[in-house]
Amino acid sequence: MLHTIVIILVLATWARSLYVPPKFECKAHAGSAYWPDVPIWNRFYISIGGALLKPLPPAQSCYSGTSNQTDSEYCNRATESWFHSDFHGSDPLSVAYPNWQSDGCLPISLYDDPKDCNPEHFPKYVVNVSSASQVSETISFAVTHNVRLIVKGAGHDLLGR
Ligand SMILES: *[C@@H]1O[C@H](CO)[C@@H](O)[C@H](O)[C@H]1NC(C)=O
Ligand SMILES: *[C@@H]1O[C@H](CO)[C@@H](O)[C@H](O)[C@H]1NC(C)=O
Repeated sequence: MLHTIVIILVLATWARSLYVPPKFECKAHAGSAYWPDVPIWNRFYISIGGALLKPLPPAQSCYSGTSNQTDSEYCNRATESWFHSDFHGSDPLSVAYPNWQSDGCLPISLYDDPKDCNPEHFPKYVVNVSSASQVSETISFAVTHNVRLIVKGAGHDLLGR
């Protein structure tokens, strides 16, 4: 019995010595060497039943030089709804206090000195989870690929989460 335990311990130590954890210094971000490739995102998309979204900031259409620049309907909707928490709550990317997104991509006509609409202020992808398995797939994807995971809840958090 003791031998078995010792052998198992030795095997476990040996197996651990073979495992080389990836050397991540920081979380992967879009454009960094470790950011998952498109085929990896596509496999993740399939594994969570298509619940992966790649949304645009809600006021992106208010900025010239963007793909939505002529789409004033989206800009008007964001401008009219900007001070309503329901709008930010139901938008996949938005948070109620835009300072947590570096005041990026504000509806231009509401602010004296709006900054640019830089997509780097916003998450690249959003998972619209509605089942426990989607939650678990998403967490293991984030851990495996060293991608930062932010949970957007319906609660009230002045720290912007
Ligand atoms: C941008 O335009 C596309 C198609 O015209 C639309 O599907 C998308 O929702 C728009 N996004 C925003 C944030 O205005
Ligand atoms: C999220 O998923 C629910 C159903 O599971 C759907 O009703 C809702 O429209 C989705 N939201 C977005 C932003 O795709």
